[in-house]
Amino acid sequence: MNEQIQRHLAIIHGPNLHLLGTREPGVYGAMTLAEVNALLHERAAVLGFTLSIEQHNDEGAIIDALTRANGTVAAIILNAGAYTHYSYAIRDAIAAIAPPTIEVHLSNTAAREAFRATSVIAPVCRGSIAGFGVWSYVLALEAVQLLGSSS
Ligand code: DQA
Repeated sequence: MNEQIQRHLAIIHGPNLHLLGTREPGVYGAMTLAEVNALLHERAAVLGFTLSIEQHNDEGAIIDALTRANGTVAAIILNAGAYTHYSYAIRDAIAAIAPPTIEVHLSNTAAREAFRATSVIAPVCRGSIAGFGVWSYVLALEAVQLLGSSS
C-alpha cells in the first residue's frame, strides 16, 4: 500500500444522517452533519489522515461507496444507520473489499429497541464502536491510527 493510501480514510454516513442536528437530538446529538464532518477532518489531520466523507440514503449508493473505497483507502469508517440491522447486501460488500471497515454508531444501539441490538454487518467489520455520540467516529479514527502503528 503506498504512503498516500495508507494515510487516507473513507467515512460513510448512511441513511437519515443528513438530518443530524434536528433528528432526535436527545438520541443523536445537536451537531449537524456538516459540523460532525468538520470535527472529523480536524481530528483526522491531527492524526495525520486525510478523509473522503460521503452520506447516502440509498443502500446501493453505500455499496458503491464501499466498492470505490476498495484499493484507495487504508480503512473505512461506516455508520450504516438502520441498514446495519438488516442489510445483507452491505454486509456482503464489506466482506468483498480489502480495507478494514469499522462500524460506528452515535447511539448505544444495544440499549435501544430490540431490533437495533442486531448488527448483520458486525461480523465482517474489524470492530464496532457505539454509544459515544460524535466521539464514536473520533474513537474509530484513533483505532485506525493505533492499528496502523502496531502493524
Ligand atoms: C445509528 C443507529 C441506528 O439504529 C439508526 O437506525 C440510525 C443511527 C446511530 O448512529 O446511532 O440511523 O446508526
